[in-house]
Amino acid sequence: MKDLIFFGIQGSGKGTQGFIIAKEYGLEIFETGAALRSIAAQDSELGKKVKNIIESGNLVTNEIVMQVVEDFIVNVPANQPILFDGIPRSMPQKESFDNLLQKYEREAIGILIDISLEEAKNRLLGRRICSLCKKVFPVSYINDNCDKCEGILQKRSDDNEQAIIRRLENFDKETVPVIDKYFEEGKIIRVDGQLPIAEVTKDIKNILTEL
Ligand code: AP5
Repeated sequence: MKDLIFFGIQGSGKGTQGFIIAKEYGLEIFETGAALRSIAAQDSELGKKVKNIIESGNLVTNEIVMQVVEDFIVNVPANQPILFDGIPRSMPQKESFDNLLQKYEREAIGILIDISLEEAKNRLLGRRICSLCKKVFPVSYINDNCDKCEGILQKRSDDNEQAIIRRLENFDKETVPVIDKYFEEGKIIRVDGQLPIAEVTKDIKNILTEL
């Protein structure tokens, strides 16, 4: 199996589907946002810098992102497929990322989880995460505690209106050209992300059986 790259506007369900698919197919998962958030939690100059960038809704510099992803890839055997969530997000990043895959003799296919801008805003504003086990809950979940471990649900610090607007603008400006390029190269397949979670999973699995 090739590596997978999950693309999609913020809130499209990359993390949600990534978790399900990686578990079912035994893929290693690289979550760019989560990896950067763990750097942001460190009490260091780099940690503070990354935290400020994430909370403003901007993209972390290429140098940092590429170092983090390479540190991950280098520890994964060549025959173990990886699911990449949230990378590449800009054209310069695409170039570096393609080179990195080549360097480690890996091949990837993209899956675009497609939703409308309006749906993205609603999901991000309503998303809550368990403070203990980090399970992610949709707008439709009404309780204040996690259904798995009873932890209190919290909003992510960058899920505020101002940072959301900035993230969506960045997606349009920086990431849409990357997705267009993958389509041009015939290396990406679209799924309808507006469907219920289980149906989106089913569509992704159908694609994987045809690859
Ligand atoms: P990151 O953590 O990747 O955040 P993001 O891009 O804003 O994406 P999200 O996690 O918000 O969306 P998602 O598609 O994973 O949605 P989810 O599954 O949670 O990045 C954070 C920051 O890190 C960036 O802003 C940037 O600063 C930095 N960064 C990351 N990558 C970078 C890079 N490559 N270069 C530079 N900087 C980078 O779903 C959202 C909600 O919808 C949830 O509540 C979920 O339960 C619900 N949901 C999911 N699917 C459905 C469905 N089908 N129906 C109804 N609800 C659904």
